[in-house]
Amino acid sequence: MSIATRIDQGILAIGFDRIDKKNAITAAMYQTMADALRAAESDSAVRVIVIEGKPEIFTAGNDLEDFMKRPPTQGSDGAQPPVFQFLHAISHATKPVVASVSGAAVGIGTTLLLHCDLVYASDTAKLSLPFSQLGLCPEAASSLLLPRLMGYQRAAEKLLLGEAFSAQEAFAIGLVTKVLPVGELSDYVRQQAAKLAALPASSLRETKRLMKGDDVAAVAKKMAEEGEVFRRMLVAPEAKEAFTAFFEKRKPDFSKFD
Ligand code: COA
Repeated sequence: MSIATRIDQGILAIGFDRIDKKNAITAAMYQTMADALRAAESDSAVRVIVIEGKPEIFTAGNDLEDFMKRPPTQGSDGAQPPVFQFLHAISHATKPVVASVSGAAVGIGTTLLLHCDLVYASDTAKLSLPFSQLGLCPEAASSLLLPRLMGYQRAAEKLLLGEAFSAQEAFAIGLVTKVLPVGELSDYVRQQAAKLAALPASSLRETKRLMKGDDVAAVAKKMAEEGEVFRRMLVAPEAKEAFTAFFEKRKPDFSKFD
């Protein structure tokens, strides 16, 4: 199983469970997560959602083989690709979403955090947005939310260079709620989630709705705009060179592209 889900005492845990591939996310995994988030909306047994990885790694982001062989396209029935269903579900979740991040959180592993309410990271967490290194562009409304969160110039460094940054830096720029020693992370997340699960669901729902306000529509609009560019760039030669280089364990050569 690549995504493990369980409901216990009001907490739905959604866990990346594909450690041999560094928890890289396939279309099937996005679909499982999207379905779990949607089901949680109408399940009164779920009061809070926790998204977690493994102590060694949160996720290596989108599966690069999937990107190459099965780029996300709309189904013949008009259904959105699983990754967009997941992003829609997490950005519209009305119940609190808590992230537990340890080790690398690459690409969507970092951008999904922009849609979580509480983000707890271990001191070993390394976040990165390597879209430009892959010949791609930002997704998950990160081109809107990151500059807003940390200021344009700091966001530009993260999105243009795509270099990894520490949990401490993520905390300083407001992307992470609290940094904990790696051995304490999962217990702390459980405690915080249990506190939320014990609070009145209506208060949490209304608080979240009031804080997000008009942003929900702006985020959806930006995601659609990014999605269009992203899909085009995914099948362009720059991305092909980047993905091939990753699997050939060499540096990509972008010098031949304008
Ligand atoms: N998609 C598909 N497979 C991936 C993957 C990904 N995003 N990330 C890692 N893997 C696979 C590797 O191909 C390798 O498979 P193999 O054992 O069959 O050769 C295995 O997972 C281990 O990866 P490896 O790179 O050896 O691990 P590492 O500990 O040295 O590095 C990362 C970990 C996450 C830093 C590195 O794997 C990485 O940079 N991955 C790509 C991240 C990425 O670009 N994601 C897309 C963002 S949009």
